[in-house]
Amino acid sequence: MNLEQVTMKLEQYGQEHLLRYMDELPARERESLCSQIMENDFSVLGHIHESAPSQGREVISPIRAMTLEEIAENRRTYLEKGAEAIRAGRVGAVLLAGGMGTRLGSDNPKGMYDIGLTKPVFIFQRIIENLFQVVDETKSWIHLFIMTSDKNHQATTGFFQEKNYFGYDRNHIHFFKQDMAPAADYQGKIYLEGKAKLASSPNGNGGWLTSLKNAGLLDLIHREGIEWLNVFAVDNVLQRIADPCFIGATIDQGCDVGAKVVRKNHPDEKVGVMCLKDGHPSIIEYYELTEQLRDTLDEKGEPAYNFGVILNYLFHVESVESIMEKSLPLHVVEKKIPYLDESGILQKPEEPNGYKFETLILDVIQLLDKCLPFEVEREKEFAPIKNKTGVDSVESARELLKKNGISL
Ligand code: UTP
Repeated sequence: MNLEQVTMKLEQYGQEHLLRYMDELPARERESLCSQIMENDFSVLGHIHESAPSQGREVISPIRAMTLEEIAENRRTYLEKGAEAIRAGRVGAVLLAGGMGTRLGSDNPKGMYDIGLTKPVFIFQRIIENLFQVVDETKSWIHLFIMTSDKNHQATTGFFQEKNYFGYDRNHIHFFKQDMAPAADYQGKIYLEGKAKLASSPNGNGGWLTSLKNAGLLDLIHREGIEWLNVFAVDNVLQRIADPCFIGATIDQGCDVGAKVVRKNHPDEKVGVMCLKDGHPSIIEYYELTEQLRDTLDEKGEPAYNFGVILNYLFHVESVESIMEKSLPLHVVEKKIPYLDESGILQKPEEPNGYKFETLILDVIQLLDKCLPFEVEREKEFAPIKNKTGVDSVESARELLKKNGISL
């Protein structure tokens, strides 16, 4: 490693403090620190003082969602179409499990969290059980791609192995790692998490396709003839994965992407809602939704921006590959970042102390032409676990699971 190059990069971005412990490190750790400095993309730091991406510049208009009534009318057709695609091996699933789950506050990957009461029920287990519903119905294995990050890859793969993949066919499970981005304090100085370790954080769920490609898995997707990928979050323990009806409807409507949506609980619910931005399907975040938009009604007298996304999308592989090179906006997010203090002691802050940098999957939607917002029943398909207690928590998810007859 050329120390001169490392120093030049640090000077360019004002990050010379990262070599603070260099003199006391053994050669191998010096080498590792220098590699991290050279490999990490420091240009993200320049986004700290920018305003939120794309705020308020576009023309927002409502998008039509396929409602529960409309779905019920065509249920049989959609089910057949979707099941046929699954049986033909044209559908795969992507589990986004690279996040840090800081709000839940467990040291393990979120999927290893046990939500059981009388027996162990791990989040990963719930997901595999949900996928099994369709596998059993269609008598076809579905390839499951699991995105992890540097922070949780080993723990995740080890856990699946230990649990024998919860009975799922090992040959249909593929792990891949997403990239990391540095994490910095409010002044844009990258934290050290160890004397030879930069603080870093997974770079958001927006880069899932690039990471699949970098892991060589897009080749497998092509080879296997997979045309649709159902991408979903780790934390919704009630969701239906590779849902044939959703798949059939998205194919039937000739869309590039389908998005499962639920009706908002109340007008101020903190959830991103589907809309059109400059005529493109898109998601408007709750904090971008003005009062005027919130109160706009459609021709039936119902709120026009009322369908919240639940991070369960069905992407047409060819369509999403065609926009892969387009860059996504970078979101600068306040976070609790473990760091070495002045005395070289590791601190785990209780409150946010800096920023991480992420691209988001919801920004991918806007790059595509045709999206189907597909309504699902909240009580039956939406039990996200973000927190330990309160809203979207282990407690609220348990209640919903029980209501759906799932024993815990
Ligand atoms: P969240 O937005 O809930 O983030 O992720 P998180 O990191 O899991 O949790 P907090 O905010 O720290 O509490 C939504 C989904 O996207 C995945 C998560 O694993 C979850 O399934 N995700 C998030 C990634 O795969 N990679 C990321 O970099 C971020």
